[in-house]
Amino acid sequence: MKLYIETYGCQMNVNDSEVVAAIMIKEGFQLTSDIEEADLVLLNTCSIRENAEDKIWNRLDYLKGLKKRNRNAKIGIIGCMAERLKERLIEEKVVDIVAGPDAYRSLPSLVKQLDTGIKAANVLLSVEETYADIIPVRLDENHVSAFISIMRGCNNFCSYCVVPYTRGVERSRNPESILNEAQDIINKGYKEITLLGQNVNSYNWTTDNDQIINFPKLLEKIALINPNIRIRYTTSHPKDLSDELIYTMAKHDNICKHIHLPAQSGSSRILKLMNRGYTREWYLQRIRKIKEVMPECSISTDIIAGFCSETEEDHHQTLSLMEEVEFDFAFMFKYSERSETYAQKHLKDDVPEEIKLKRLNEIIELQNKLSKKSKIQDINKTLEVLIEGYSKKSKKELNGRTSQNKIVVFPQQNFKIGDYALVKIKDCTSATLIGEALL
Ligand code: 5AD
Ligand code: SF4
Repeated sequence: MKLYIETYGCQMNVNDSEVVAAIMIKEGFQLTSDIEEADLVLLNTCSIRENAEDKIWNRLDYLKGLKKRNRNAKIGIIGCMAERLKERLIEEKVVDIVAGPDAYRSLPSLVKQLDTGIKAANVLLSVEETYADIIPVRLDENHVSAFISIMRGCNNFCSYCVVPYTRGVERSRNPESILNEAQDIINKGYKEITLLGQNVNSYNWTTDNDQIINFPKLLEKIALINPNIRIRYTTSHPKDLSDELIYTMAKHDNICKHIHLPAQSGSSRILKLMNRGYTREWYLQRIRKIKEVMPECSISTDIIAGFCSETEEDHHQTLSLMEEVEFDFAFMFKYSERSETYAQKHLKDDVPEEIKLKRLNEIIELQNKLSKKSKIQDINKTLEVLIEGYSKKSKKELNGRTSQNKIVVFPQQNFKIGDYALVKIKDCTSATLIGEALL
């Protein structure tokens, strides 16, 4: 039996697909990269915004054709959209299996159930499932950088966000299993580990002898395994970004100097409506602390344009926050109302579409300027780059990332994928640093 997996959405989903691959391979499935020869096609889906779900509906239209060509092929929808839409998906003729993010262990039995001619679904959420004992089958191409999920779910209930409903309550994974997985990744030759979770800095584990392991402690334990292995993490929540975390990052050279810290808005009034648990001033004070302790640290963010009741004044506060922080990078979105959320139930999605778009464009334009500025500041610096692959344009050029998570392209010389290179930055485009490696 051949399995084809297609992944949409965040890095958590990418890692979940690797867990699913491990579960299915144990059952005797073989992975294929050719959808046409697959016996089972799994779409690991995202519900975060409406357009993420629209993509899946379009894909299902395409898969109707696949099913006509290969009558034995089965189609499964897994992940956040499976959790959110349940029966509605099962009613779709083309869908055979529906499995939510906590139900992946049951996939083999769901597949077996299909033999009885009955469609199969499991969308039960769990308070404890962390897939701790499953070593994911790495699906990346270059074997340089790997993910480890350290916690699942989210208890924050930001008023716009569907994740607490699709991924369930927050639960941390046993640190021993995390350390074992890190060691396994290093043994396989990987050079970088990214710790994943919806809100990694609320990671919390109490050991049998009542020792508390919080996120900074876990991060330190992993950093200490091997100083040549880089450690990253995402995503962190500004309300939980402690000084202890900042000092731990500063203490270890192999903890990458990059923090993704979603601000969402620069207006304290909107932040309150979003139930973010911090104000503009708190956010800026966290940024000042990061810059004071680690001046070289890059900071990226997520911004939502046009949330319920957002005025022009609120929007300008977002722009001014961006200018003040000088984000190195940002993901920027239009607010998209999601059913079940607090905002959908209690707030009015009253910013007209064209205003949302205009504000989003202003945010993007400003960020382009800031991203360029951040790269220009790197010209003439010599930065350590972990080489991840060949550049898109030429096989004679390599690309990799700096500790700050900036992409660097440079001539190959004698370097190979997985090496560290010291690269002198000569130039940049809006997305990339361009340099030459020192030999
Ligand atoms: N509309 C628009 N953007 C959203 N995000 C989460 N929910 C929504 C929504 N309903 C954004 C937030 C979050 C990122 C992963 O997606 O910025 O940080
Ligand atoms: Fe999408 Fe969020 Fe689910 Fe990830 S956790 S797949 S971003 S909805």
